[in-house]
Amino acid sequence: MKAINDFYERQLTPEEIAAGEHRTFVGGLWHEIGALQFEFLRQSGLLPHHRLLDIGCGALRCGIPIIEYLDSGNYYGVDINASLVEAGKHELEQKGLTSKQPHLLVNDKFEFDRFGISFDFAIAQSVFTHLDMNLIVRCFVQTRKALKSDGTFFSTFFLAPFPGHIATIKHQPGGTVTNFDTDPFHYSFREIEWLAEISGLSARLIDDWNHPRNQKMIELSVKLKE
Ligand SMILES: C[S@@+](CC[C@H](N)C(=O)[O-])C[C@H]1O[C@@H](n2cnc3c(N)ncnc32)[C@H](O)[C@@H]1O
Repeated sequence: MKAINDFYERQLTPEEIAAGEHRTFVGGLWHEIGALQFEFLRQSGLLPHHRLLDIGCGALRCGIPIIEYLDSGNYYGVDINASLVEAGKHELEQKGLTSKQPHLLVNDKFEFDRFGISFDFAIAQSVFTHLDMNLIVRCFVQTRKALKSDGTFFSTFFLAPFPGHIATIKHQPGGTVTNFDTDPFHYSFREIEWLAEISGLSARLIDDWNHPRNQKMIELSVKLKE
């Protein structure tokens, strides 16, 4: 499957990875956004024995602190870009964390069933900001199947004030300009709620979680059949 954003088709060279360019490639603010995600997950109830799925894990910006915290073998990361996963392995080696045995998968269809387990938590940080609605539904459906019945999926979005907001939006802080139909995308909460509903998930807006570029957090849970 082709990434909607050709940007993430670019493969970094081993030299670029050695120079740490992957940190900029996934958006920079490496320590700040890594720590923000980790603290958010911990405050939301993540414990060392839980199994966590990091969707669009990139080069493990948030993966590193999570892997450090979780029991060995409980971190599962998936990304479409093979070179970013290689960069993640490089980061793991630098931190002496390979013995924590994280599971890393390069996959372009959100096929989380390849891991063969169910998850307590999933997170997709700054991933849906790059995906169109069809890919979001694909990811939602696959995540619903991979979550435990009481599992929780956190994902970030650039929020629009109402559905069908075709004008661009400049988000502050950070100044990111988002679009209705090209990357980077914005979505209203009603649009996300509907995409979740048709995927068997229910959505709750957490809103502000101090993201430095004002991405909002949404909590998704498995919807019980009525
Ligand atoms: C802005 S980066 C964020 C990475 C990571 N979540 C973090 O916070 O550092 C977006 C990531 O989404 C990944 N991505 C984009 N489309 C994807 C897809 N269809 N399946 C899996 N990963 C995807 C990109 O390769 C990239 O690593």
